[in-house]
Amino acid sequence: MEKVDTAILKTKAIIYGAVALGCFENVFNFKGYKRFYLYSNENIDDYLSFTSFDNKDTALSVTASGDQVFSLISQGIKKIDTFDINGLTEYYVLGLKRAMIIKYNYQEFLDISYKIFDYNYSSNENVSLEELTSILTDLLSFMDKKERYYWQNIISYNYKLQSMENTNYNLFDIIGIFFGNFNFPVTRSSYLKTEEDYNRLRSNIINAELTYQNTHVLDLPTKLNSKYDLILFSNVLDYCDDKLGYCWLYKDIEPFFKEMESLLRENGVFFMHYLFGKQCVNVSSLPIFTSSLVEENDLKDYEILNIKDCNDKMLLKRG
Ligand SMILES: C[S@@+](CC[C@H](N)C(=O)[O-])C[C@H]1O[C@@H](n2cnc3c(N)ncnc32)[C@H](O)[C@@H]1O
Repeated sequence: MEKVDTAILKTKAIIYGAVALGCFENVFNFKGYKRFYLYSNENIDDYLSFTSFDNKDTALSVTASGDQVFSLISQGIKKIDTFDINGLTEYYVLGLKRAMIIKYNYQEFLDISYKIFDYNYSSNENVSLEELTSILTDLLSFMDKKERYYWQNIISYNYKLQSMENTNYNLFDIIGIFFGNFNFPVTRSSYLKTEEDYNRLRSNIINAELTYQNTHVLDLPTKLNSKYDLILFSNVLDYCDDKLGYCWLYKDIEPFFKEMESLLRENGVFFMHYLFGKQCVNVSSLPIFTSSLVEENDLKDYEILNIKDCNDKMLLKRG
């Protein structure tokens, strides 16, 4: 079976579980075809401000919600290889979100996003099933063939099932992950902060080259043969205990860091890990930040940036 057909089947199962059985899929398991982040929970604009984009053309980035990717394109990056262990991110980012950016101007993008992504959990007050179906259908012609095929199937399945069950769950409440306030990415994603930033993204995105690989981050060295001006990992390294074991140590990841650093071009920059301040969200943090390891000075080759808001940090390596 084609991967896209598997993605469609898995998405239909998530929708069926929620609509017919009242059972929403767990959000902290990303491997396979899972619910995806609708937008980033990081202050992307703040950490990107620590680098210059002059002479930077190529990047490697986690796909995630696309906010990292679109922020980079807005800053002038022309080619981005994206990767994610969650196979649905491809359809959301390279399909739906990219289509929204191509179709809508700044105000329209914000209005539609607030309408379809900023919902009040499970009671779909902002948008009716008919209106959501019509908004999504209008985006199909702005997608490439594979993504269009995926969304055509999902839109019609969701419409038919919810009409039959007489429900009005927001599709993105079912298949997306949401933190309760769409203002967050608007003020913290470089492409959404101002109309000018968004317009720059819109004019750059038409010629930007975006690729996608469905892979575990730690398998990247065996799958890449390009060099990059910028590498951006978000907080993906929080989710490596499946391969490195529980409470893994700096020495366990050091060979991987070195391999990734060898993929940096001259003057390249590696945003290695976004570390959430404890009061911001309760996620596990990278073991290399435990006090004993910092005392051992393992991180001496890296910069630790203090991010605005929430005491978040970014671990950075300049090539
Ligand atoms: C770590 S999550 C958290 C959200 C993130 N802070 C943001 O702003 O987008 C980001 C993405 O990493 C992906 N991911 C998680 N573990 C991964 C892994 N081991 N390898 C590759 N991608 C992974 C998830 O599927 C998700 O799309």
